[in-house]
Amino acid sequence: MMSLRIRKALPEDIQAIVDIAVEAFWKEYGNIEEARKAFRGPVARRWKHMIEDKTAIVLVAEKDKQVIGFLVFRWWFGWNGWLEAIAVKKEYRGMGIGTLLMRALIERARRIGYTRICFAVRQNEEVIKFYRKFNAQRFGELPDEDVGKLILYFIHIGESI
Ligand SMILES: CC(C)(COP(=O)(O)OP(=O)(O)OC[C@H]1O[C@@H](n2cnc3c(N)ncnc32)[C@H](O)[C@@H]1OP(=O)(O)O)[C@@H](O)C(=O)NCCC(=O)NCCS
Repeated sequence: MMSLRIRKALPEDIQAIVDIAVEAFWKEYGNIEEARKAFRGPVARRWKHMIEDKTAIVLVAEKDKQVIGFLVFRWWFGWNGWLEAIAVKKEYRGMGIGTLLMRALIERARRIGYTRICFAVRQNEEVIKFYRKFNAQRFGELPDEDVGKLILYFIHIGESI
C-alpha cells in the first residue's frame, strides 16, 4: 500500500489511537458509551504517559497523515513483554497493516533484548489466526469476568542474553 508508514506514536496521536481502540474493543465493555468513557478517559491518560515517559513501545500505522492502526507493548517480567493492544481501523483490516505493525514491534523489542512477546486473546477469535502467522504458542488461560475465558500466548523473538 502506498504512503503507509509505521512510526513511534507521539502524544498528539492519542485521540486517534483511542478512537481505533473504541471501534475494535467496545464489545468488551458491553456498550459503546462505556467503552468511550474508559478509552477516552483513564486509558487515554495512561497510554499518553507511556508514550511521553517512553516506558512502552507504542507504534502507529500512518497513511496520508492519518493514524489507521496502533499497538501498545510494555515490560511484563524478566525479558517478557506484554502486548496490551493491537488494532487496525475496520476499513483497513486484512491488508497487511497488522502484520507490518507486528514486524516492526518484533524488530524493536528484539533490539532492546526482549525474548518473548506475550498477550491474551479471547477464545474462538479470528484474531488467533492472525497471531499464528507469528508462531504464537499457547501457554495458559485466565478466567475473565467480562469476556469469559482469555487464552494466553507468547511469540518467541530471541534468545536470552
Ligand atoms: C487483529 C488485527 C490487528 C489484524 O490486523 P490486520 O491489518 O487486519 O491484519 P493483516 O492484514 O496483517 O493480517 C490478516 C490476517 O489476520 C487474520 N485476521 C484476523 N482478523 C481479521 C480481519 N478482521 N480481517 C482480515 N483478516 C483478519 C487473517 O487470518 C489474515 O490472514 P491472511 O492475510 O493470511 O488471510 C485487526 O484485524 C484488528 O484490528 N482486529 C480487531 C482488534 C483486535 O481484536 N485486536 C487483537 C486483540 S488485542
